[in-house]
Amino acid sequence: MTKSFKDKLGEGGYATVFKGTLRSGHLVAVKMLSNSTANGQDFINEVATIGRICHVNVVQLIGFCVEGSKRSLVYEFMPNGSLNKYIFSQEGSILLNYQKMYDIALGVARGIEYLHRGCEMQILHLDIKPHNILLDENFTPKVSDFGLARLYSVDDSIVSLTAARGTLGYMAPKLFYKSIGGVSYKADVYSFGMLLMEMAGRRKNFDTLAEHSSQHHFPTWVYDQVYNGKDIELKDVRRGKGNR
Ligand SMILES: Nc1ncnc2c1ncn2[C@@H]1O[C@H](COP(=O)(O)OP(=O)(O)OP(=O)(O)O)[C@@H](O)[C@H]1O
Ligand SMILES: [Mg+2]
Repeated sequence: MTKSFKDKLGEGGYATVFKGTLRSGHLVAVKMLSNSTANGQDFINEVATIGRICHVNVVQLIGFCVEGSKRSLVYEFMPNGSLNKYIFSQEGSILLNYQKMYDIALGVARGIEYLHRGCEMQILHLDIKPHNILLDENFTPKVSDFGLARLYSVDDSIVSLTAARGTLGYMAPKLFYKSIGGVSYKADVYSFGMLLMEMAGRRKNFDTLAEHSSQHHFPTWVYDQVYNGKDIELKDVRRGKGNR
């Protein structure tokens, strides 16, 4: 299916992702979890739950594999990769115009709302960030990596301070300060806000290379500007080549 894992799509904190083709010809992304501690049956139970989730703004799980200690998940393939590629401009990258960005933001909000309120149980994502927003051939955004919190082992890395998943910079303070018992859907809303800020500013929320040191932390800078009644100027990226 993956031609001996030849085509690597990317690697995150918990898994490596490979491109594959099903016998039917459909392209898929195979996510090999690196340190899943879930036993076979727990894994299957979790996956059965995630597999029932279906929404246009959520990445569809289409299968899984349990073999010895190996665990993998098979998702529909997203040809345009993850949103981070389009926000943080790199050499040769395509930049999306503001209308497209707006549509994407709306789609992500719909996906998150569906996870919170649209299915039989409430699913908290807890790791909303540009890397976990994938784009299909039409740039329709799909939220990925939801429902996985219980499939990962908790090690002593900084992320697991939260006893859950999460990425610094997007994680709600409440999560960071370990009050996991009291976490609600609002943690995802906070991360979504951080994501929106990056989409609008087309920069990392925390950027030590920002022009002025007062701009290093983008949310604080925006707050100060608004507080002082000043305008917030954003770069117009529609100028230049390669825009969509
Ligand atoms: N369904 C998919 N289709 C296409 N590319 C994918 C798919 N799923 C993942 N990828 C690619 O693989 C990369 C790694 O994904 P992965 O979820 O393991 O890590 P991450 O999202 O960067 O971080 P995290 O571990 O916090 O989720 C993604 O950034 C994305 O580019
Ligand atoms: Mg991910």
